[in-house]
Amino acid sequence: MAYSPRLVRARGVPLSSLHSNLTPLRSWDGGVVLPPAPLPILPIEPSVAPLPDEWAGHGPLFGSVGEVLEQVQPEDPLQVWRPAVLAATAERFVRGFSGTPFFAVKCNPAPMILRALFAAGVQQFDVASVEEVRTVAAACPGAAMIFMHPVKSIEAIRVSSHDFGVRVFSLDDPRELKKILAHVPSGANLTLVVRLAVPNDSAKLKLDKKFGASPAMAVRLLRMIAAAGQRAGLSFHVGSQCGSPDAYGTALRLCAKVVAKAGVALDVLNVGGGFPAAYDPTVPVLEEYFAAIDSLRRGLPELRHAKLWAEPGRALVAAAGSVLARVELRKGHSLYLNDGVYGGLNEAGPQIGVVHPVTIWRNGKVVQAATVNFKCYGPTCDSLDVLPGPYALPASVRAGDWLEFGMAGAYGQCLRSGFNGFGGGAVVLVGGG
Ligand SMILES: Cc1ncc(COP(=O)(O)O)c(C=O)c1O
Repeated sequence: MAYSPRLVRARGVPLSSLHSNLTPLRSWDGGVVLPPAPLPILPIEPSVAPLPDEWAGHGPLFGSVGEVLEQVQPEDPLQVWRPAVLAATAERFVRGFSGTPFFAVKCNPAPMILRALFAAGVQQFDVASVEEVRTVAAACPGAAMIFMHPVKSIEAIRVSSHDFGVRVFSLDDPRELKKILAHVPSGANLTLVVRLAVPNDSAKLKLDKKFGASPAMAVRLLRMIAAAGQRAGLSFHVGSQCGSPDAYGTALRLCAKVVAKAGVALDVLNVGGGFPAAYDPTVPVLEEYFAAIDSLRRGLPELRHAKLWAEPGRALVAAAGSVLARVELRKGHSLYLNDGVYGGLNEAGPQIGVVHPVTIWRNGKVVQAATVNFKCYGPTCDSLDVLPGPYALPASVRAGDWLEFGMAGAYGQCLRSGFNGFGGGAVVLVGGG
């Protein structure tokens, strides 16, 4: 993928002039950065705190979002990352899940994020394209990869298996099985994982229509894999932002029936993604999902002996990222922002409807006051560029205020399009609040 550099328009201090020993502000894809400062240097400097190696080149580490806004005085939206939160979230998953988590790279393929997850213990990756394979290999040399897209090009099968040593592939159709077997290195020992369609009733984003074999087809595929002398696995996706641990129970029971019918020893059980981000307090905690999966799997003899894998995306990265967008105009209870659905807030649009927790920043401080409900519009001319919310915000919110959309580290950043000429998305790192 050709990453294009993004400029940060800012009225404040270019970070490079404050920290001549630090690389300037970068966009998430590594593109550069700040133009010469039109305004004099401000007296305050960002707090300099130790920055873990995996984030090097993206510093400095600011003490707070308020400090970012005062120092940089940005004119475009920013992507904020909190390295400590990312490390803690990843460590929590690794500690709590009783199998091996593979990060779903599609959720955020920025090399700094892959490196930070690797350093925190998530050292395996779920990839879905050759470009993702290359990105992981470059960012985290030697990391394990599984290719979990059920429909792959012949080139993708060839390059990933011949050049990068990938040996695990998913499929949901006999023609795909034939394709994989024909294009991997001869004699390769593979693990071939059948993607089973399971109910997605509890998910915000349903993923059961496009991919996934019926139970009868899954039985057939498992037998074909065993007959080809390869290891057999089973996977599913309960849908993204799954609101109930029971969804995994339903899926696991279906898996057990399929395995029993197929009469094939299962090498891998991959419970997919779907683990939710805590956008609001009603979302069950991750530990409830881990416990449900663990206890059910142990009770099902067909699944008990298989290796347990998962492919979490948003649960690993959402909490550590936020998007800073400025209010350009207020009309009643509608706020017109400089970022939206075609920027870093794709999932807050009407199609998915995530309601991110929002903090208001003014003059470097959080505004706290009695709230009323607002909806927001993104900057493009498209009427789909709307964030319906509702967002409970201080009644005094006004043009010039910055909205920090929290829990925004999943999907939005890599879906930024630049549509209609609205850019932004440069990365700033924050150590504190
Ligand atoms: C095959 C596969 N695995 C994992 C994921 C990650 O899902 P989530 O972000 O819900 O954890 C996705 C998301 O689309 C997916 O398609």
